[in-house]
Amino acid sequence: MTQLAATPDIASLETELADKSPQEVIEHALGMFDNIYISFSGAEDVVLVDMAAQIKKDVKVFSLDTGRLHAETYQFLEKVRKHYGIAIDVVYPDGEEVAALVKEKGLFSFYEDGHQECCRARKVRPLRRKLGTMDAWITGQRKDQSPSTRSEVPKVQQDTFFGTDDHPLMKFNPLAEWSSAEVWAYIRAMEVPFNPLHERGFISIGCEPCTRPVMPNQHEREGRWWWEEATMKECGLHAPKS
Ligand code: ADX
Ligand code: SF4
Repeated sequence: MTQLAATPDIASLETELADKSPQEVIEHALGMFDNIYISFSGAEDVVLVDMAAQIKKDVKVFSLDTGRLHAETYQFLEKVRKHYGIAIDVVYPDGEEVAALVKEKGLFSFYEDGHQECCRARKVRPLRRKLGTMDAWITGQRKDQSPSTRSEVPKVQQDTFFGTDDHPLMKFNPLAEWSSAEVWAYIRAMEVPFNPLHERGFISIGCEPCTRPVMPNQHEREGRWWWEEATMKECGLHAPKS
């Protein structure tokens, strides 16, 4: 394990980071762990990359390519890679697993059976594999992204869903307390590159068949898996409280 300092207990770390800004949380996380990655979706969580790149030049970033992202998102990943001069580890699902699912249920099974099975194959299992190679990860989760599922996201937590006793995993959510408005104020003020889909009514961006723009005053989460209940709108990347 390439942890740089002894891990303090999670409660005192949470207290220590409670009043810290996203930049300070990222700085703390990067100081604590060497083998730590930003989990970048290709949406407004680009602010994490921007903040981290100012602290550490060779910051580690990964992105899950489900095979179903928008063309604009692929182009945006490339733009970010070049803009910050960073490597992005693009993580792919197991081809045979996806092929078996598609052979059995077709390319749009999620509209009939719910998104969990497809998300498991295209996102969650690849994520689990990737997380097994690191000691800590940084996500762009925010409380305001989903009142029904993310209202308790802390700035730091022990990831007991993907981590194990043998391989503990720390998870940082530096933007937990930021609102969407604060994220966008940062993007504008710092002239951070952004996914052009945001100019076309998309707020939250995931896979192309499961994401759509929202109408004025609709919550951003209503653009994701819109055919399902609000409480189901998690794909398994972020289990409750982890
Ligand atoms: S999701 O669970 O509904 O898909 P959401 O789009 O809200 O997640 O993004 C929250 C955070 O999860 C992102 O800021 C990012 O850290 C992580 N994440 C989501 N999708 C991806 C992806 N394709 N690759 C890497 N990280 C992702
Ligand atoms: Fe499959 Fe949709 Fe989940 Fe993407 S968001 S992995 S397309 S169900």
